[in-house]
Amino acid sequence: MSYTIAIAGKGGVGKTSLTGLLIKELLQRKQGPVLAVDADPNANLGEVLGVEAKTTIGGICDQALGSMNEVPQGMSKGEFLEYHIQSAVIEADGFDLLSMGRPEGAGCYCYVNNLVRKLVDKLIKNYPLVVLDNEAGLEHLSRRTTHRADLLLLISDPSLRGLKAVCRVVELVKELKLDIKEYALIVNRATAELSPQFNAYINDQGLKLWGIVPHDEVIARLDAEGVPLFELPADAPAAQVMSQLADKVLLEKKG
Ligand SMILES: Nc1ncnc2c1ncn2[C@@H]1O[C@H](COP(=O)(O)OP(=O)(O)O)[C@@H](O)[C@H]1O
Ligand SMILES: [Mg+2]
Repeated sequence: MSYTIAIAGKGGVGKTSLTGLLIKELLQRKQGPVLAVDADPNANLGEVLGVEAKTTIGGICDQALGSMNEVPQGMSKGEFLEYHIQSAVIEADGFDLLSMGRPEGAGCYCYVNNLVRKLVDKLIKNYPLVVLDNEAGLEHLSRRTTHRADLLLLISDPSLRGLKAVCRVVELVKELKLDIKEYALIVNRATAELSPQFNAYINDQGLKLWGIVPHDEVIARLDAEGVPLFELPADAPAAQVMSQLADKVLLEKKG
């Protein structure tokens, strides 16, 4: 059974960066192959991980639709799609990357979408650990990808506005009736202690604060130089917090 960790929060808070750093920490803890899923149509998890994503599920869906009448003899349409989906998985060192691309292709039919979701679900189950980088609207989590996650990591900046945005994500999860076992909050890019108002709001909302990642100049530098964040040195301030966070995630996974 795979353990799925989904990352959510508003645009620009550091979801993709923290997803990449978490994957790095998880790999060091040798938990078996990790599937990294880039569920942001504006895909850039590959850049953070230092691998090049060539095709997306969205693209494959379009391509498969256009060639449905070319399904080889003796192969069902489902098998044909499954083959295409498998070919979108990029194998890297210790992990695989799957990019979802656009949630809905121009010519995508419901039939194909449902099938794609089932096939992606099936693929996910092959991995003991799945880490899913979402876009703010959780579009993929509700439609193309899996409807469930064992752990939803909510990323906020240290502003009250950021925290309120995270609470809206929680509302959205409820509205969409997604099956999420556990939630935890991570504050990213902290430059000072959290304000009393911020802490009070966390308590009010009953959120569990799992980590405070500092604003890290090393991240900013790597980003400016176009170096994958995967190469963040272990002694960088953010890496140290992410290491503790990975331990916490694995403890939660153990139950
Ligand atoms: N802890 C941090 N310290 C410094 N810069 C950060 C930190 N976290 C993220 N960033 C920077 O913030 C920007 C947005 O991060 P990104 O992960 O792409 O956000 P999102 O995926 O939520 O849109 C990037 O330029 C990234 O390098
Ligand atoms: Mg992102």
